[in-house]
Amino acid sequence: MLEANESTPVTAKRSQSQLISLCVNGEWREVAVKPRLTLVEVIRDSIGLTGTKASCESGACGACTVLLEDRPILACLTLAIECDGKRVQTVEGLAEGGKLSAIQDAFLDQGAVQCGFCTPGMLMSATALLRDCPKPSREEINKALEGNLCRCTGYNAIVDAVLQASGQGVEPVMK
Ligand code: FES
Ligand code: FES
Repeated sequence: MLEANESTPVTAKRSQSQLISLCVNGEWREVAVKPRLTLVEVIRDSIGLTGTKASCESGACGACTVLLEDRPILACLTLAIECDGKRVQTVEGLAEGGKLSAIQDAFLDQGAVQCGFCTPGMLMSATALLRDCPKPSREEINKALEGNLCRCTGYNAIVDAVLQASGQGVEPVMK
């Protein structure tokens, strides 16, 4: 008979780590993950990329948004083992050769960053939008970012940043 603190075979199996491969920001990595770990936990705690934020951890705020196979997903609601063999892009993967991407520059130019907690998720959603739709309207931007909540900026600066990055005549206000 099992003692109270002994695992049954089923619970032991559930807690066993599994080796998965993730291509994170263009670099393949093998990571041992427990079946119930979420992608945001693995990105932050196992891989050490802490740009992606875990806030509500229930799918409500968008702070954990990353790109999985180029599509924005909520990493707090995605199991890491479901991402085995897939490409993940985080905010750390936006800059190239030490140069910020156009959308990152535009967020700074428009004063669209205050506490910054929403910013990585906003940037990833905006990046996906601009890949699909290089000149989005305000309505399209609002729609694309509706799952990303910001408590600080009032959103106008963020929308202006996306318009600036897409070359639609919005000038920097912070220079
Ligand atoms: S932390 Fe994932 S949606 Fe809030
Ligand atoms: S800048 Fe603080 S939540 Fe958006």
